[in-house]
Amino acid sequence: MKKVNLAVVGATGMVGRTFLKVLEERQLPIENFYVMASARSAGSTLTFNGKEYVVEELTEHSFDKPIDIALFSAGGSTSAKFAPIAAEHGCIVIDNSAQWRMDPEVPLVVPEVNPEDIEWNKGIIANPNCSTIQAMVALKPLDDKYKIKRVVYSTYQAVSGAGVAGWNDLENGLKGEAPKKFPHPIANNCLPHIDVFMDNRYTKEEMKMIWETRKILHHDDLKVTATTVRVPVFDSHSESINVEFENPFDLDELIDVLRNAPGIVIEDDPENNVYPLALNAAGHDEVYVGRIRRDESVENGVNLWVVADNIRKGAATNAVQIAQEIISKMQ
Ligand code: A2P
Repeated sequence: MKKVNLAVVGATGMVGRTFLKVLEERQLPIENFYVMASARSAGSTLTFNGKEYVVEELTEHSFDKPIDIALFSAGGSTSAKFAPIAAEHGCIVIDNSAQWRMDPEVPLVVPEVNPEDIEWNKGIIANPNCSTIQAMVALKPLDDKYKIKRVVYSTYQAVSGAGVAGWNDLENGLKGEAPKKFPHPIANNCLPHIDVFMDNRYTKEEMKMIWETRKILHHDDLKVTATTVRVPVFDSHSESINVEFENPFDLDELIDVLRNAPGIVIEDDPENNVYPLALNAAGHDEVYVGRIRRDESVENGVNLWVVADNIRKGAATNAVQIAQEIISKMQ
């Protein structure tokens, strides 16, 4: 297999560190490896595959050296400025921020769902929002089989999705300290407020789920609504997903469709208290689906409970899977 030169931008962050872990686990064929972050952490070191790497400050010249693939997770403004510079130098950027996701020139990819979209990239590929990724893994096989008419998302999102600062707010909040990242205490609380509020009274996180679902499923006018909530959980997002289909379905068959789809583990044995749990999903790459039951209030509806590690499948793992797809096509 061809070896690549690979850079991680934002390597010191929550997702950045997980990039390193997942790259190690999946043993990507890497020739030269670079870790980049802001001037604040330049000169510090990170261990990768048993070797120490010095963190470089990200600058306009970081991509003067030959880099084939760069995994970015350093915020939207950093991606806005530096992803095009990297792409101009022939590097393929896989960007975890929201900056490029809805750009019509940029594919938005979940490898189990729309790997074919990788092919038309022009140097930047966007990693979807964490909540969208896990929902897409569950919904794509159902859309293929029964054609989705409408989706209602209600999310229960972990604080790690808000980076180190979000994690600290819960950890310190449990000791009685005031929040620094969130507008209210997150310990013993649920905040129906993720990202900024928009003119239509939705939050941007909710609109990201709506826009990104339509783009990834290639259904521009799909009916989707969402309420996204931050809950006092460190790792893994949980989602209630209500789906209405155009076509009738048999529930056992629908469960089999999900069971046979890539990236999904069914945990659905309510009599034995078996259903997906954030605590169990943390540290894993799969999307866990359970509480599968007919929505008896509509003709062809189903309710799902979908849980995944938001930092792994919701961010780092998904990006590394995209990198693996790219590398496999390089031969
Ligand atoms: P640094 O550690 O030097 O601040 P998180 O969202 O988990 O807090 O992580 C954010 C990541 O993005 C960190 O690695 C951070 O680096 C990096 N980052 C933030 N701003 C910049 C910037 N202007 N240039 C490069 N990296 C940045």
